[in-house]
Amino acid sequence: PLITSQSLFEKAYEKDYAIGAFNVNNMEIIQGIVDAAKEERSPLILQVSAGARKYANPIYLKKLVEAAVEDSGLPIVLHLDHGESFEICKQCVDDGFTSVMIDASHHPFEENIAITKKVVEYAHAHGVVVEAELGRLAGVEDAVNVSAADATYTDPDQAQEFVEKTGVDALAVAIGTSHGAYKFKGEPNLDFARLKAIAAKIPGTPMVLHGASTVLPEFVKICNQYGGQIPGAQGVPEAMIREAARHGVCKVNIDTDLRLAMTAAIRKEFAEDPTNFDPRKYLGPGRDAIREMVKHKIRNVLGSSGLV
Ligand code: G3H
Ligand code: 13P
Ligand code: NA
Ligand code: ZN
Repeated sequence: PLITSQSLFEKAYEKDYAIGAFNVNNMEIIQGIVDAAKEERSPLILQVSAGARKYANPIYLKKLVEAAVEDSGLPIVLHLDHGESFEICKQCVDDGFTSVMIDASHHPFEENIAITKKVVEYAHAHGVVVEAELGRLAGVEDAVNVSAADATYTDPDQAQEFVEKTGVDALAVAIGTSHGAYKFKGEPNLDFARLKAIAAKIPGTPMVLHGASTVLPEFVKICNQYGGQIPGAQGVPEAMIREAARHGVCKVNIDTDLRLAMTAAIRKEFAEDPTNFDPRKYLGPGRDAIREMVKHKIRNVLGSSGLV
């Protein structure tokens, strides 16, 4: 069934694992992710960005996710990723999403509180859970491009005040991750001391790690080998994701790794068989690559296998 994340997070919070939240944009991406979760018997969060709604048309995504729930029998959360306003959050609640993110992190603190609180009131009245963000990640967040200089880490005291005043269910924190394929110039580094300090201030509140793709080197290599140009791509090492899951991070957001897996498979297919012009014969390998990558993540990194 379509479920909220509440009971998933309660259990994940107490244990060393986290739930993967995967961005979905079309049928093959959804099928690849859901088939992996089915094989691993893992609960799942499928998340839809404003860009995804614009690309696929909201009704198509909703119906595809319903089909995935029916076909897999898995507990699946349908989540709005980076909702920009009360209005888009309300729209998704009304459309049957079970979770929404209000991302008002680019507004001043008090305004972030006010907007988040309004979303919480509406969503909770409809049985929907809410994620909000405090602090700003560098990188591209939907329409918002945050430069490294404008990125700010989450302040633990502010986190406490924010959670108390808004009643939000989960908090996205900024501890050094960023969106996209170029997360670190030098050595990867996350501020785990800060994560622990935030967790101590908001005990029991699940935290969310955005920009949590690992940018798996095998896919970067295949892309570059077959005509792609993504040199220097680098993500969050798997060990750091495991560490975050031990300290209150219950939701791990992954989009870039899906994009890279699918693109690597399609580039390889095109290079190896230039006569192939059947979309099923390149989207199919793209879907397979997503499935195998997500299986690996669920089993070896997130640790949510065997829960259903
Ligand atoms: O937060 C960013 C996600 O990767 C979604 O990306 O806005 O291009 O769909 P998008
Ligand atoms: P990545 O770009 O690291 O996959 O992050 C995705 C994300 O945070 C979606 O909200
Ligand atoms: Na955990
Ligand atoms: Zn994000």
